[in-house]
Amino acid sequence: MNTLNSYEIPGHVSIIEGQGGLCAIRIETEWSSAEVYLLGAHVTRFGKKGEAPLLFMSGLSDFQAGKPIRGGVPVIYPWFGPREGLPSHGFARLAEWDLTESTLLPDGAVRLVFKLPPNGPGEVVFAVTVGRTLVIELVVTNDGAEDLAFETCLHTYFNIGDIHRIEVSGLHGVRYIDKVSGEQLCDSHDVIRFSGEVDRVYQDTDATVEIRDPALKRAILVRKNGSHSTIVWNPWIEKSKRMPDFGDEEYLKMVCVESGNVGDNAPTLTPGDQSTLRVELDSVALG
Ligand code: BG6
Repeated sequence: MNTLNSYEIPGHVSIIEGQGGLCAIRIETEWSSAEVYLLGAHVTRFGKKGEAPLLFMSGLSDFQAGKPIRGGVPVIYPWFGPREGLPSHGFARLAEWDLTESTLLPDGAVRLVFKLPPNGPGEVVFAVTVGRTLVIELVVTNDGAEDLAFETCLHTYFNIGDIHRIEVSGLHGVRYIDKVSGEQLCDSHDVIRFSGEVDRVYQDTDATVEIRDPALKRAILVRKNGSHSTIVWNPWIEKSKRMPDFGDEEYLKMVCVESGNVGDNAPTLTPGDQSTLRVELDSVALG
């Protein structure tokens, strides 16, 4: 705890005891506030002042070493989805990350940098910039002597007013794997509406995605760079009931629009190479 205190910035960055007694960092800026846990370098909260939280957090989430946090922004590396005998969505979200930098930027935003303790090849750094928007960047460097293949995803959970009324746009004409039916399809709709479980892995898309939420009178914007995959997920009724760390009715108030490089878009870095996945989350009021 003592060494972590050196990263505090009065009025902007404080080290706190978070839920479950875990170590977290609270960030305040002129425009927004946020919270990040060292477990998973997990952003559990971001919101603009005077606005509903942008990120959804499950009221039943575990906050326990070795278990993933449900909601916010799980950092997914080095694989996406299940892997036999290994943790779903990789080990990065289960690891205790090191805080290596906290800076008050000249424009008043706060930038924190986290490093994943070495666990095999690949140096992994995650930067969180809290300001008018939330910017999250995952940088992987191949520090080994062999090629490094992996998947990444910033698995953002959004807080929405009513799943029945939102519209997700930006993915028209994009091919996807439907994980519910197992089919490979192409999105022929201008917007996605929700009336059942949705679990889609869109491939070869760099597009900004917009979530229009008439209930909370805002649109959420997911802008990305260095990401060619987008995952859209809502577990709906049955899957919600099967998840112990997720309330039966919570599917009504969340949607995941995740940005990453998975499946056919998984990168391979040659020794010394680096890849950056950058996502900016913003919101605008709906008139
Ligand atoms: C999504 C997957 O990214 O994450 C879903 O597409 C999965 O299939 C969901 O159910 C949650 O995964 P987990 O491991 O956090 O329960």
